[in-house]
Amino acid sequence: MAKVTWLGHAAFSLETEGKTILVDPFLTRNPLALISADKVEADYILITHGHGDHLGDALNIARRTGATIISNAEICDWLAAKGVKVHGQHLGGGFNHPFGYVKLTLALHGSALPDGSNGGNPAGFLITLKENGKKMYFAGDTGLFGDMRLIGEEGIDLAALPIGDNFTMGPADALRAVRLLQPGLVIPIHYNTFPVIRQDASLWAKEVEAETSTKVKVLSPGESIDL
Ligand code: NI
Ligand code: MN
Repeated sequence: MAKVTWLGHAAFSLETEGKTILVDPFLTRNPLALISADKVEADYILITHGHGDHLGDALNIARRTGATIISNAEICDWLAAKGVKVHGQHLGGGFNHPFGYVKLTLALHGSALPDGSNGGNPAGFLITLKENGKKMYFAGDTGLFGDMRLIGEEGIDLAALPIGDNFTMGPADALRAVRLLQPGLVIPIHYNTFPVIRQDASLWAKEVEAETSTKVKVLSPGESIDL
């Protein structure tokens, strides 16, 4: 069984096949994060796009742990120049990593890096776990787009979707995204971190469960589920 832990905002930790995979590890400046960037373990770090609330502490964590960063080619080139291990991919491309198959999916957003460098195009991740074939979709920061239906055709067990509005989908569009993706379970993310993205996740959960066959799990930062 894989353990999936929400670290607040868009950050997750996955434990599978004896490896720890971090997604968008924004910890030090994240008011909701409970885990320190100095303590967290990592073998791989997945970065959806170049914005500071997703790149987060990735560079320092990779330097300390020796973890390999998986992201788009532009972000990987930028990080490799700073001396960390990277594996660059690009939209639509997948690769068999030791813990599972990782495919980069579309995201409608920006991706500039903190110093203004070109961070390529933003992405989401569709991960098929090696240990049990379960599929997880991390949407990244994105607006609603119709091709979520194509991603849903792959059969998603768990989706992490932004509901915060303002920078990403809000609750109404995230509900429409659930209809297109049809995941077994959805976790709302990217809300309440800052006042501008304050949302009622419990209310959203009720709406999704009333209108679709998808179950919703509203996690507290640091809380885990098994997949
Ligand atoms: Ni962003
Ligand atoms: Mn963001």
